[in-house]
Amino acid sequence: MLETERLILRPLGGSDAKTVQELAGDREVARTTLHIPHPYPDGVAQNWIAGLGPAAAAGRVHTFAVVRKADGLFLGVVSLAIDKEQSRAELAYWLGRPYWGQGFITEAARRMVAYGFGELGVHRVYAYAMTKNAASTRVMQKIGMAYEGRLVQHIRKWDQYEDVDVYGMVKP
Ligand SMILES: CC(C)(COP(=O)(O)OP(=O)(O)OC[C@H]1O[C@@H](n2cnc3c(N)ncnc32)[C@H](O)[C@@H]1OP(=O)(O)O)[C@@H](O)C(=O)NCCC(=O)NCCS
Repeated sequence: MLETERLILRPLGGSDAKTVQELAGDREVARTTLHIPHPYPDGVAQNWIAGLGPAAAAGRVHTFAVVRKADGLFLGVVSLAIDKEQSRAELAYWLGRPYWGQGFITEAARRMVAYGFGELGVHRVYAYAMTKNAASTRVMQKIGMAYEGRLVQHIRKWDQYEDVDVYGMVKP
């Protein structure tokens, strides 16, 4: 469990599945992510959550629910996917649409970067965002990542090829 000024980052449990499906089921949340399906089928959240504990235990992906400290409200998800061999971690995040624009993901992502360099001891943390994803781009900039380049039509989302920017930083 990790803590910031306004947030708790905690492991997800089975009881989060309904909220995950509800929030990630919003087309606007799925639209700029690589993996979130739309519509969001029943059972996907449960299966996904069931795999998170084993993935973390194996050191592959560390995923946290972003929860508001004041009232325990589930806001979204942050994760670090680890490549042990290369000592690097890919940061990813999404937030439920009702909670956008309040700096929550910036706060959570900063803690995740510190977690990566600190507790996990990786050498590099990086993230991808579709070039059309201005909010995510801004988050990467605000947490101190540098623009490293553009991957042209690197991913296919909903039958459309999308350009992706790479941002990253190395351990200070
Ligand atoms: C990416 C996401 C988590 C950002 O959430 P958020 O609540 O807007 O994040 P924050 O409030 O911490 O910061 C967003 C920043 O982007 C800025 N921003 C938001 N929308 C913007 C836009 N359309 N154009 C330019 N800047 C924008 C905000 O002003 C803020 O910057 P500021 O603090 O300098 O004002 C949210 O939009 C989301 O969940 N999107 C869908 C999933 C997704 O795309 N995940 C990332 C995949 S790489």
